[in-house]
Amino acid sequence: KDDSSKDGGSNDDSTISKVEKDKKLIIGTNAGYYPFEMIDKDGKMVGYDIDVATALAKSMGATVEVKQFGFDALIPALQTGKIDMIFAGMTITKERENAVSFADAYYETGQGVMVKSDSKIKDLKEVDEKGKTVVVQIGTTGSIVAKKELKNAEIKEYEDFPSAALAVQQGQADALVYDEPAIKVYALQNEGKVKALDGLLATDKLGIAIKKGDEKTVKYVNDFLKEYLGSKEEEETKKKWFED
Ligand code: ARG
Repeated sequence: KDDSSKDGGSNDDSTISKVEKDKKLIIGTNAGYYPFEMIDKDGKMVGYDIDVATALAKSMGATVEVKQFGFDALIPALQTGKIDMIFAGMTITKERENAVSFADAYYETGQGVMVKSDSKIKDLKEVDEKGKTVVVQIGTTGSIVAKKELKNAEIKEYEDFPSAALAVQQGQADALVYDEPAIKVYALQNEGKVKALDGLLATDKLGIAIKKGDEKTVKYVNDFLKEYLGSKEEEETKKKWFED
């Protein structure tokens, strides 16, 4: 009787088996989401997500290959097998769970608001007026929250976070709704030009997306996260990216 599909067998079509065989974990991401994934001055993709992916790959006896996509192209890329996993600070949502499976959340955050330093706006309520423009990144939970909460302001979608943030900085938009860590890093890098408002509009639990229904790989990644999160290695990478 063939039992190669049982744990330990390498003949199944799970991602973990493929990665162990190819010795390569291909991840999809979308650069410009500080400090999780960004392109450094040498053109290399770096950040917290890249370090987590590298540690995960190492545990599988593999190395990481990073592929860049538009944020809204990541789920299709996973579904069509162009990538093995999504490492993009992706929020676990019911809707996305129809298309992919998520490992357990590895980071909790929420939707922040960024405005120009000299803006009179104190919270999102003050943004929701006719004639005001709010920018978001296409396909993100920030976009969903802004469309839901802001009925009077105009919502404008940008391809990536840096270009949306620049629109606020240059006064082409009144506010930006986006994941708080990225806003914090950007505001620090552009002190005196933009600032983050206090408070969060919604909470986000970020997860690693895996091919839908691939329970074997989900379990593997969950076991890995249990060991990795809070480990010395993870504390160091967190310190490197979040506290500098
Ligand atoms: N957490 C938000 C979402 O899932 C934004 C993530 C953006 N990530 C990125 N790599 N650009 O919609």
